[in-house]
Amino acid sequence: MTNNMFFIANWKMFGDLKSINSTKKVIKFSKNKKYKRAQIIYCPPYTLLDKFLKITKNSKIKIGAQNCHQSQFPGPYTGSINASLIKSIGAKYVIIGHSENRVSGDTNHIINLKVKSAIKNNLNIIFCIGETLSEKKNKKTNSVLKSQILQGLKNVKNNKNIIFAYEPVWSIGTGIIPKNENLKKQISLIKKMINKHYKLKNPKIIYGGSVSTKNIAELKKISSINGFLIGGASQNSKNFIDIIKKTIN
Ligand code: 13P
Repeated sequence: MTNNMFFIANWKMFGDLKSINSTKKVIKFSKNKKYKRAQIIYCPPYTLLDKFLKITKNSKIKIGAQNCHQSQFPGPYTGSINASLIKSIGAKYVIIGHSENRVSGDTNHIINLKVKSAIKNNLNIIFCIGETLSEKKNKKTNSVLKSQILQGLKNVKNNKNIIFAYEPVWSIGTGIIPKNENLKKQISLIKKMINKHYKLKNPKIIYGGSVSTKNIAELKKISSINGFLIGGASQNSKNFIDIIKKTIN
């Protein structure tokens, strides 16, 4: 398991029924023994979850949702989907704490409730943390990450089903990635924080932010990274496969 590399496709608010067809290439590719270390997870919009579950049924590809409502119970929350509903259709993962949801109101407290609800429903969690550009400029990166971890995982017992995704907000969708030496240091600091505050010895940490076919050769050199959370580049099956091939060769 520790040797596995995660390639998590976050399709965000992209993708219609037609776009599923192109993923057939990825499903076929996922059966190639040479790349058996690659754990591919698709997180499409809610509207495509069921289709994705069906199309990937006979493969090792797993499916996740991009967010969930914090309420464990059904209720009058128009437009919302909670962890229990996600579980009920057979998805195994959920992204929680993505910066695009943090800006629209997800506080660390709300994120904490979402995490607890996802755990109650036995979902694996892709727990996103990351600093904004101004936090980075003001040298607040470590304190921001620390509070995201401490408050987001408050009263959560060390749980092996959490994947930590470090996504610097200034890197998402900008084409800019951290320098390898800085990213390596940051990953090691995050690992220490998780060890100290969350008492998890070998947390899985993945990187997200402008991962592409062009920069993957550089990013993969950081051996402490357990995989990638990929936005834009994951919507193109050829690029997605290319990223996996270039990581595992
Ligand atoms: P991009 O790969 O498009 O920068 O998006 C990263 C991201 O937000 C994945 O969750």
